[in-house]
Amino acid sequence: MLSNKIVVLGVTGSIAAYKAAELASQLTQRDAKVNVIMTKEAIQFVSPITFRAITGRPVVTEMFELASEFSIEHVSLAEAAGIVVIAPATANIIAKLAAGIADDMLCCTVLATKAPVVLAPAMDVNMYENVITQDNLSKLKDRGFVVVGPVSGRLASGKKGLGRFADVSDIIGTICQVLGRSGDLAQRRIVVTAGGTQEPIDPVRYISNRSSGKMGYALAEAARDRGAKVTLITAPTLLSHPVGVEVIHVGTAQEMYQAVKGNISQIDALIMAAAVADYRPAKAVGEKIKKREAGLTLELELTEDILGSVKGDFVKVGFAAESSNLEENARQKLREKKLDLIVANDITVTGSGFGADSNQVTIIDREGRIDSLPLLPKQEVADKVLDKVAKLLSKS
Ligand SMILES: Cc1cc2nc3c(=O)[nH]c(=O)nc-3n(C[C@H](O)[C@H](O)[C@H](O)COP(=O)(O)O)c2cc1C
Repeated sequence: MLSNKIVVLGVTGSIAAYKAAELASQLTQRDAKVNVIMTKEAIQFVSPITFRAITGRPVVTEMFELASEFSIEHVSLAEAAGIVVIAPATANIIAKLAAGIADDMLCCTVLATKAPVVLAPAMDVNMYENVITQDNLSKLKDRGFVVVGPVSGRLASGKKGLGRFADVSDIIGTICQVLGRSGDLAQRRIVVTAGGTQEPIDPVRYISNRSSGKMGYALAEAARDRGAKVTLITAPTLLSHPVGVEVIHVGTAQEMYQAVKGNISQIDALIMAAAVADYRPAKAVGEKIKKREAGLTLELELTEDILGSVKGDFVKVGFAAESSNLEENARQKLREKKLDLIVANDITVTGSGFGADSNQVTIIDREGRIDSLPLLPKQEVADKVLDKVAKLLSKS
């Protein structure tokens, strides 16, 4: 998504400027071309050499002493930009942009660019909550600027409150979302499920499975980055919320069933990557079960068949984790649950499936076409699945 994209990273005079170095590093590692512009105040906090070393590219600090490598005039960075990201954005730059002031290279670039602009404000809570800053931010949002953060937490002043620089992963997620706005899933509404449900035995114990949720979260992020409006219905996981995705938390299979049923009107695709329990304890005991000498027998009952029972005019994708007869079992599930696609993974392959960062999957469609993929990072598997979803949607 970021490969060869030209990102202008504006760094301003906030104490959070050092965090922009991590952002520049992560963007560069994803093969973006990062052109950094620093304000005069920003270089009081971090040296331009840091950004130069991280990005491998010249850093612009002065309007009239432009880096010779760029051989630029004051608007050429603006014209080449795929996206402009100001992170951190001070109250001062926000005020200047809202007023249309162009007294430094960063302001000139923002005024001159046709690229989308993302702001990641970072400042003291009182500065942020000040009605002047809020008015300026509203004005910029109304003009199409995208704002990520700030978040709440400990501030450099020692106070706690709203004003902290957003997480670098959320800023990158926002950049990907903005760059993907006109992707092949633009305007599509997609529901993704993820994680392993938890079926209570008593107040402290439950039956679950080894699903990490990584595949479902990767699908939600990839669909977002292709322009879709995504709802992620997730069982408990250790993963953080993907930015720009509506997240609904559930615990049990029954809760997931209700959440799916309640969110599928007018969707284009339902992708069920969650590992939903097939059985739950017939009775969840209200008090913690005491340890006794004899063994304990639990009676289990079937849970709702979400995939088989939800119907509608949308592309339906199921996942099947198999340890034997992969193709045969997957084809049977595809038929029985009336799916458009099934993504089957062989959990006996090392490095694939539950908990892993990669997956080796076979995708089968309704016509019986088979696509056996090699072991790939879950992000790449997500894009392969979405390629097929996009194709099916383009035909409908
Ligand atoms: C130690 C220190 C920390 C600062 N941190 C912030 C900050 O986090 N956010 C902010 O809006 N301003 C902060 N300021 C004030 C800005 O540096 C000041 O408004 C400056 O004019 C911003 O210039 P610029 O927007 O052109 O970079 C800080 C100032 C100092 C001295």
